[in-house]
Amino acid sequence: MQLSIIGTGYVGLVTGTCFAEVGHQVICVDNDANKVKMLQAGGIPIYEPGLEDLVQKNVAAGRLKFTSSTAEGVQNSDVVFIAVPTPPQVDGSVDLSYIERVARDIAAALTSYKIIVDKSTVPVKTGEKVAETIKRYCTSKVEFDVVSNPEFLREGFAVGDLMKPDRVVVGVASPRPAAAMREVYAPFNAPIIVTDINSAELIKHAANSFLALKISYINAIANVCEAAGANVQEVANGIGLDERIGRRFLNAGIGFGGSCFPKDLSAFIKIAEQIGYDFKLLKEVQRINADQMERFVKKITDTLWVLKDKKIGVLGLAFKQNTDDVRSSPAIDLCLRLAKDGAALRVYDPKAMEKARPLLPNATFVADMNAVAEGCDALVIATEWDEFKQIDLARAKKIMTAPIFFDGRNLFDPAEMEKLGWIYKSVGR
Ligand code: UGA
Repeated sequence: MQLSIIGTGYVGLVTGTCFAEVGHQVICVDNDANKVKMLQAGGIPIYEPGLEDLVQKNVAAGRLKFTSSTAEGVQNSDVVFIAVPTPPQVDGSVDLSYIERVARDIAAALTSYKIIVDKSTVPVKTGEKVAETIKRYCTSKVEFDVVSNPEFLREGFAVGDLMKPDRVVVGVASPRPAAAMREVYAPFNAPIIVTDINSAELIKHAANSFLALKISYINAIANVCEAAGANVQEVANGIGLDERIGRRFLNAGIGFGGSCFPKDLSAFIKIAEQIGYDFKLLKEVQRINADQMERFVKKITDTLWVLKDKKIGVLGLAFKQNTDDVRSSPAIDLCLRLAKDGAALRVYDPKAMEKARPLLPNATFVADMNAVAEGCDALVIATEWDEFKQIDLARAKKIMTAPIFFDGRNLFDPAEMEKLGWIYKSVGR
């Protein structure tokens, strides 16, 4: 099929590339001319495992093109996907101005029937607004259908999540666009759930909120474990093997972050409020998440007493492993919190150093994970990168002023660490 994707951020670029990979003809549109130039030259503006090779392969095969002209994208495709940012506003609601802008641009470019698919994460009822906007600004009498098709990609695993989705959600108002969307997704061999538009939009917010709830739940359990002398990982294993619960997203730590969960929770609470429901459960999920960071900082201050002029090594800056993304990163929040109390930070991340640098202007960025500990009073793990498990603990202990280790992601075994002579504190164990 002929497809266009408007917006080449994480979602748009991965979606467009994977659509090309399965044989569709794809035009990716972005209004940032420099980004388009970079993509045309085979570079990609983000770190996402496996993506660069796929982009280059599909550009070379002539299935993937980049342009800054919305009209070119729209006029050369049957289905137009909107994948532009929907950033949060101060009151928690979503800024839908990019979506509205694109809807107007599409309206101006429409010359024949198109299916317009919203892929950006939006509050329920946005599809109605998009349809209204296109109708209002389209001067010719062209037919179109609006579809909601939320994405469920995890950063760092986005290519795999798109190529092998566990489900595809398609919200439609009539059979014609449903048939076209089945054709778009046929090569992926995934279950396709066809719903009305409002339900599809709601599925996205409900899914992310549930996952965030799961994390806050296990963090709350971790706090009970600490008070009771139990081990949260064993509890998570014990409940997680119950298929109704599931083990994934039950890792306790310093809380969730990133560009999705915090924003989507706020947006869901806000839209629920606007349509008449006070979602107190999700407000508690937010509160537990914020509290989790405070509890971890307290662990550090209870041990180190005064943070002023203490040298602390922080491993991890990205909001989770396998990404260079530092947006709403708990690791960055932790660094800022420690720095505010006067600690001098030595920091390292396998991928996120460049993006973190402007956010932590006073920290020392160390290129080698094993050199972070040099002269430090304590080491802290803030992101769950697997490779931190390989840190040279013997060397770290030698080059630190005291063998103190705060593990915010429970990567090490407490008994082992104590045997090795560390004062070791983790979460819920
Ligand atoms: C999340 C969802 O997992 C995707 O399904 C969704 O498509 C995406 O948001 C989105 O809306 O675009 P992502 O933000 O990339 O994906 O990251 P996650 O892997 O979900 O992790 C989010 C945060 O939760 C991270 O800070 C991570 O460290 C934390 N987390 C995750 C935990 O603290 N414990 C866990 O057990 C799992």
